[in-house]
This record gives sequence, C-alpha cells and structure tokens, in this order.
Amino acid sequence: MQRTLAIIKPDAVQRRLIGKIISRFEEKGLEIIGLKMTVIPNDLAKKNYSVHEGKDYFEKLVRFMTSGPVVVLVLRGKNAIGVVRKLMGSTSGHEADPGTIRGDYAISGRFNLIHGSDSVESAEREIPIFFDDSSIIESEKSDLKWIYDMSDDLTGENLI
Ligand code: TYD
Ligand code: MG
Repeated sequence: MQRTLAIIKPDAVQRRLIGKIISRFEEKGLEIIGLKMTVIPNDLAKKNYSVHEGKDYFEKLVRFMTSGPVVVLVLRGKNAIGVVRKLMGSTSGHEADPGTIRGDYAISGRFNLIHGSDSVESAEREIPIFFDDSSIIESEKSDLKWIYDMSDDLTGENLI
C-alpha cells in the first residue's frame, strides 16, 4: 500500500474547509495514518517545496504556506499518490474540474487549498519533513475487507 503526504493549506483552514477536505479522502477509502495541525516554519516550507526554488513564485508560495495553521496528513491506500492528486484536481482552481477539491472550492492559482505529493520519491522525501515514524499510526481497520477485495490476499500487500 502506498503512502502520500497531503497538506490542507492556510486558505482552507481559514475558510473552514478542513472537514470537507478530510471527508473526501475518508469517503474514497483512504486511511489517515498521520494527522496534525501546525504552523509550518519557514525552513520546512522551503524544504517541502525545494523543487520550486528559483521560480518567480517561490517566495510568495513559501509566504503563503507559512501564513497560518495548516493540517498535515499522511494517507495510505492503493495508488494513494495518484488517487489524492486526482481528488485535488489540477493546480489552478480556475482550471480544475468540478468534482475535485480545487475545482469545487478554489478559483485562485496559488490559494488552491491542498498539497499532495506528486510521486513516490516526493512522498518519501516529504513525509519525514513533517512526521517521525512514531507519530504515524498504522492500525488494522476492520472495514478494509469491504473497501478492497482481500479474499486472495489477507496480508494487504496486493489489494484489488
Ligand atoms: P506545483 O507543484 O506545480 O502544483 P501542485 O500543487 O498542483 O503540485 O506548484 C506548487 C504550488 O506552487 C501550487 O500548488 C501553487 C504554487 N504555484 C504558484 O503560486 N504559481 C505558479 O505559477 C505555479 C506553477 C505554482
Ligand atoms: Mg507539486
């Protein structure tokens, strides 16, 4: 099962969209295995977005991401990285499809509510920026066998 990092950005927290966004992840069948509210310090925001360093929007992005509380999540599920990216919608709110988080609740190109890791490498790099191993809690969810067909695989390694 794949893990990914999601950040409910400062605009979403101020607009009281935490619950709606988390509901979309839960209703899809993703498991929350890490969760915290924090104000991201400058150095960690820069680290998380280091691939954007040098871009003309980098400073403004970092200023936005550090401007207020965020909710950071580690989500787990089959193809969790791609699933979360699809639920988020494309980067700009004014281009994102209706039915996605950004498509339904954002219109800005920067105040776009949600961050999600974009690859396995990004997820592996981003998760430890915000969570140490002891604050990620993988419990056995009893409903998993109704979310996936686990009849051939009770280990959960090869879910259908
Ligand atoms: P990016 O990784 O391209 O988008 P996504 O969040 O969909 O993975 O960019 C990271 C964030 O940077 C994006 O969510 C919003 C901000 N951003 C700007 O402010 N201006 C820009 O021109 C771009 C491309 C991104
Ligand atoms: Mg990105």
